[in-house]
Amino acid sequence: MAIELSDNNKQAEPLTLRSYTTEDEGEYSLRPQLLSEFIGQEKAKSNLAIYIEAARRRGEPLDHVLLHGPPGLGKTTLAQLIANEMGVNIRKTSGPAIEKPRDLAALLTNLNENDVLFIDEIHRMSRAVEEILYPAMEDNEIDIIIGQGPSANSIRLELKRFTLVGATTRSGQLSAPLRDRFGVMLKLELYTHRELQHIIERSASILNIEIDSGGSLELAKRSRGTPRIANRLLRRVRDFAEVTADGRITQAVADDALTRLEIDAIGLDNIDRRLLLSIINNYGGGPVGLETLAATVNEESVTIEDVYEPYLMQQGFLTRTPRGRCVTKLAYEHLGLEQFAGTEPSAQISMEDL
Ligand SMILES: Nc1ncnc2c1ncn2[C@@H]1O[C@H](COP(=O)(O)OP(=O)(O)O)[C@@H](O)[C@H]1O
Ligand SMILES: [Mg+2]
Repeated sequence: MAIELSDNNKQAEPLTLRSYTTEDEGEYSLRPQLLSEFIGQEKAKSNLAIYIEAARRRGEPLDHVLLHGPPGLGKTTLAQLIANEMGVNIRKTSGPAIEKPRDLAALLTNLNENDVLFIDEIHRMSRAVEEILYPAMEDNEIDIIIGQGPSANSIRLELKRFTLVGATTRSGQLSAPLRDRFGVMLKLELYTHRELQHIIERSASILNIEIDSGGSLELAKRSRGTPRIANRLLRRVRDFAEVTADGRITQAVADDALTRLEIDAIGLDNIDRRLLLSIINNYGGGPVGLETLAATVNEESVTIEDVYEPYLMQQGFLTRTPRGRCVTKLAYEHLGLEQFAGTEPSAQISMEDL
């Protein structure tokens, strides 16, 4: 019974979203390896700890886990951590990397008992590949077709018991049958300043960076609720601290460096500002459709949705309405702009209404 092992069990490709991921390789040492080192996400973490303990006591694999939330919040980290805590191996791939059903079949049949299979960006799996997963997740078996045309044969293969960990920035795009097969769904939220401050201080100590609490708080406030950004900014600010100061990151050093990087007091960067300003200047504050907006600011609409909007919405700067995106009064205030009369979304008359 020969199923070729394709090259698809390579590491998941990093997302191509802005510079959020460019330092991922270097971040390996910053990734918490155990649940106890994972800061924040208390709700998800405490539930997960119980499921892991229960599965371990029963000597069973953990139920399939779906992790969802914006990029950089710790999905990949948690997947690895689940495998570490369960004491099993992890195989990593990603939705777009699995081209054919047989690639996934090869991955599945090579798993050992209780192993974790991590599929990043699981919403980007093709339907044909996805269908292999249904019986695999439910009954630990797969049906594979051998040969072609009239001589094709369907063979049922039994799999070892395993845990699928899926990660996605958009759980809404997952098909219902796939979503229903996950026993555990964990939604990751943007981190609080205090949590980010902890993460920054932990990373600083690993990287041997001197930082005081004023410095870590300043960085935390400007990291958009996202550990990956916090770690990235920490490295950049360290460069400034070493060259323009004595190497120690204080509040003043962090503020100076982040201002030079054009990251404002609450973490908005040029692209955030361009996004808000283009809605204000070109569309009277909105509503404007996502695709139109994407074309105007020359960004991918998925990038806008996954990367920029979660934080802008959390800050109360942007709202999604059925007719499109609207900038709020709060955003005008933050940008130091007067809100023109009649630009309140409710008072706005759009072309469609005429
Ligand atoms: N809760 C956390 N505690 C400490 N560091 C974290 C935490 N979550 C994420 N990180 C850091 O942020 C980086 C990005 O996390 P990652 O798991 O790659 O995010 P995602 O897969 O959701 O995009 C990791 O390299 C890790 O160093
Ligand atoms: Mg990831």
